[in-house]
Amino acid sequence: MIASTLAFALVALPVALGAEYNVQVGAGGKLVYDPEYVSAQPGDVINFIFNPKNHTVTQSSFNTPCVALDGGAKTGFVPVDAGTTDLPIRQFIVPAGNAPLWFYCGQTGHCGQGMVFAINPPADPSPNSFSAFKALAQGGTPSSRSSPPPSSSDYVTPPAPHWVSATATVTYGGSVYTTTYTSYDGTPPPTPAPVPVDHKIIVGNNGVLNYDPANISASIGDTVTFEFHPKNHTVTQSSFLNPCQALELTSGTPGFKSGFQPVAADATEFPTFQITINDTAPIWGYCGQTGHCAQGMVFAINAVESGPNNFAAFLELAKRSGSPSASGTAPSGTTASTAASSTASSGAIGFARGSGAGTTFGLALSALLALWV
Ligand SMILES: *[C@@H]1O[C@H](CO)[C@@H](O)[C@H](O)[C@H]1NC(C)=O
Ligand SMILES: *[C@@H]1O[C@H](CO)[C@@H](O)[C@H](O)[C@H]1NC(C)=O
Ligand SMILES: *[C@@H]1O[C@H](CO)[C@@H](O)[C@H](O)[C@H]1NC(C)=O
Ligand SMILES: *[C@@H]1O[C@H](CO)[C@@H](O)[C@H](O)[C@H]1NC(C)=O
Repeated sequence: MIASTLAFALVALPVALGAEYNVQVGAGGKLVYDPEYVSAQPGDVINFIFNPKNHTVTQSSFNTPCVALDGGAKTGFVPVDAGTTDLPIRQFIVPAGNAPLWFYCGQTGHCGQGMVFAINPPADPSPNSFSAFKALAQGGTPSSRSSPPPSSSDYVTPPAPHWVSATATVTYGGSVYTTTYTSYDGTPPPTPAPVPVDHKIIVGNNGVLNYDPANISASIGDTVTFEFHPKNHTVTQSSFLNPCQALELTSGTPGFKSGFQPVAADATEFPTFQITINDTAPIWGYCGQTGHCAQGMVFAINAVESGPNNFAAFLELAKRSGSPSASGTAPSGTTASTAASSTASSGAIGFARGSGAGTTFGLALSALLALWV
């Protein structure tokens, strides 16, 4: 009883005090949120008013505007018939912290046409401004990202990869299947290898902290076998922007990991770990042993060498992850710091249903509790 009373007070206080904002979703048949962003305080309520058509409000990260953030808030589709007057409303309560939050419409094609929304986006000319987010959603390159290559003393985190989601039909292993894959500017289509091959990568060859080779291309259906040589290494999947952190920690997507593979100095047999290549998007990874990643023990499969997100840039990011500025506060305004903070604040955010004047607070208590304790 005490616990639930406390929970209610914690939830009710900010809701009662918060300001309310109305955001029209697709008014006049246009693919926009109006306004496109708001500046709001924790506990403020945003009423998303769904106009005719069939839209969503779905949380994303800054870097991938049109992909649902794992564990993020989403309304689901809210179909509204033309001529409806009592428009459905979904309420969103701004969580604690002042991290920017990013949203898009999940209806096919809408996000790519710029139907995106933000709470507390940094102002232009920040590389993480609302206009930069919208440009990413539309597949363009924000002008603030196309600056000349930095000198080593003036290092700037490379831009997030430009991605597209695509569906392709692939014939592999005698059967035909449809695959949804994430690709990047410059990646080849998801064509399976005519004859799958195995690519071998030696982990810690001759005691050196490396993968040999560290930077390979592989086709769908190919396998990559990592062979662990003496010392105690891992093969752990990460992301381009966070080379030395397991993928699930920075994106919510589970990644592959071999675990530690201790091998004696005089070993003659070497343990292996194998992955199968399922699509042509770049795969990034590192050694999870203390200090190894920051010494450059990273690898890439299908990195796009023609773009900024190439293997050399990944290696540089890995090495910088060991420096004090990267382990604590990254330089303000970098995509890496924004991605991390928005992911950290994304847990357990919910929408409430309602219609009419937005007085219905059908809130999920368990979800809100996480915001306020
Ligand atoms: C709304 O859009 C989704 C996704 O395109 C679709 O699955 C659903 O059937 C649509 N609902 C209506 C009522 O049109
Ligand atoms: C391998 O490294 C991990 C992490 O540092 C450690 O926990 C483990 O004990 C090591 N294994 C051996 C056999 O040295
Ligand atoms: C490829 O798909 C299989 C089966 O879903 C999965 O186990 C494996 O981890 C995937 N490979 C990669 C590199 O993600
Ligand atoms: C990675 O591989 C590509 C293709 O073989 C090559 O052009 C590039 O120079 C390599 N990058 C590094 C840093 O080794």
